[in-house]
Amino acid sequence: MAIERTFVLLKPDAVQRRLVGEIYSRLERKGLKTVGLKLIQVTPELARKHYEEHITKKFYPDLEEFITSAPVVAMVLEGPEAIKVVRAMLGCTNGREAPLGTIRGDFGSSQQLNLVHGSDGPEAAAREIGIYFADNELVDYEPTLGGWVCADYEK
Ligand code: RTP
Ligand code: MG
Repeated sequence: MAIERTFVLLKPDAVQRRLVGEIYSRLERKGLKTVGLKLIQVTPELARKHYEEHITKKFYPDLEEFITSAPVVAMVLEGPEAIKVVRAMLGCTNGREAPLGTIRGDFGSSQQLNLVHGSDGPEAAAREIGIYFADNELVDYEPTLGGWVCADYEK
């Protein structure tokens, strides 16, 4: 087991629907530590970098239009197996199919407008964090409650 960092993006629909607090609160309450956080406007250039793997797909033009349509909240979260944990909290891509209890399952009704992105593996996490955050925008600190989130052998 290891402490990992993952990249999370609250998408334009989360910001426009005023669900930022609700979603961020779930991630915080899970025990994840925030090491980077900002509200930004994604440009088409940034969208192409982030969703590089999808550029040739038929849905890419719609995805780029959506992700650049309003501000997003970008964050880097840290915790034991954070990448897997966040993906499980999101649920599958389509909000109509995501199980209740997941973020997409509870708040989403769309395949495209699915509220939140989470890195799908360690390589993607490192790449996405590097795309959205400069090193000096990530803050390292000792969380006071760290010892109450998991045992030492899980870190
Ligand atoms: P994400 O990368 O945003 O965390 O989402 P994901 O892994 O669950 O889904 P992915 O396959 O990577 O797709 C990226 C985003 O593109 C939109 N999408 N549209 N119209 C379509 O067929 C389609 N498929 C995907 C969604 O916004 C999805 O999250
Ligand atoms: Mg993806």
